[in-house]
Amino acid sequence: MPVDPSQCSFARYRDGVLHIEDVALSTIAAAHGTPCFVYSRAALTDAFERFDRPFARRPHLLCYAAKANSNLAILNLFARLGGGFDIVSGGELARVLAAGGNPRNVVFSGVGKRVDEIEFALEQDILCFNVESASELRRISQIASRMGRSAPISLRVNPDVDPKTHPYISTGLKENKFGVAFEDAVALYRQARSLPRIVVAGVDYHIGSQITEIAPFLDALDKLLELVRQLNDEGIRLHHLDLGGGLGIRYRDEAPPAADRYIHALLAKLGDRSETIILEPGRALVGNAGVLLTRVEYLKPGAHRNFAIVDAAMNDLMRPALYDAFHDIVAVRPRAGATTCYEVVGPVCESADFLGQRRELALEEGDLLAIMSAGAYGMSMSSNYNTRPRAAEVMVDGGIVHLIRARETVPQLYESEKLLPDAR
Ligand code: LLP
Repeated sequence: MPVDPSQCSFARYRDGVLHIEDVALSTIAAAHGTPCFVYSRAALTDAFERFDRPFARRPHLLCYAAKANSNLAILNLFARLGGGFDIVSGGELARVLAAGGNPRNVVFSGVGKRVDEIEFALEQDILCFNVESASELRRISQIASRMGRSAPISLRVNPDVDPKTHPYISTGLKENKFGVAFEDAVALYRQARSLPRIVVAGVDYHIGSQITEIAPFLDALDKLLELVRQLNDEGIRLHHLDLGGGLGIRYRDEAPPAADRYIHALLAKLGDRSETIILEPGRALVGNAGVLLTRVEYLKPGAHRNFAIVDAAMNDLMRPALYDAFHDIVAVRPRAGATTCYEVVGPVCESADFLGQRRELALEEGDLLAIMSAGAYGMSMSSNYNTRPRAAEVMVDGGIVHLIRARETVPQLYESEKLLPDAR
């Protein structure tokens, strides 16, 4: 059973065993247990370089959307490759700093920035606040004034284009909570210009995620450039244009544009503008650079359905339960012989706890499976539901395996909880 090479170029069968780079997944399972997220350093580096290269010498910054996978080793790798970061919380800023990222290369997105988060970001002198409302703009101005610091801002505008993706991950439509309406943007920029300690630095949008066509990106850019023209007419000049993230990946049979085609299309529209171009890719940098390794605990045949109950669950990879998302599931050591149609489910007490439905697999109890395309929004969305310690994470680099996050232990899960004092 071949692994689709466009999906995971770093994963291939050798001697009948699925390898990540030069390491057999069975070796990783023996050393680190399951469930375990396994990432490829080569795949991460390759994905970053595919985004970086098309810009050539044009001023640009790739702000990796840390929410896709915020393991320190991954943030550190992108920082070393020259990347910046798109963050959405003080917690993500702390991670970027702990990973050796430069706060001057950080943009701070999100609709609900708290006072302490804004203070922290101002102290760290981040590149830009991506502001999502008039109230947030005033709050940032007040805090910056009190601290005696300048706050560089960009307004996140909502271009009202349909990214044609799952409704839960589409963000650039009028009915979404994100950004400010295009019609209100010029007035808000005028206001920004007059507010104390606010420095107008850029404009940004992010229209959605897992977008597999170029057209919505180009429609949004057309609208943005019209807004930039209006701002220039008012004498408002911008340091950067931040075109967000959202480029999709192949999970099954999607055919998203390659990074270079997407970037060349954007650059063609941008012509010889001088602003720095920022992108905020998340999934496209990490999604197909990781798999979730899991072991079959039980096979449970039934009259209506056959279940393969594995040791990973919706708490480890929430995407199938939350979005009905498809992740390919392959055997680490495929067996010859007849396949059976399985529901691949976890041990969590929810009917939505499935990782794959109706999968043709030849399985025995104890077999290892790889859930593909699990590098993005896997570990970062995982939880401790059912008091399940979160999975280990390892990074393969050639023939070497680095443990980049130890498996949680059960006592860690309740160490900050307290019993009530003796009865009243
Ligand atoms: N910038 C902003 C402001 C964002 O909100 C996001 C993602 C990104 C960049 C990165 O988008 P990407 O390049 O990864 O598509 N949990 C969902 C995806 C949620 C995306 C949220 N925002 C999933 O598992 O599909």
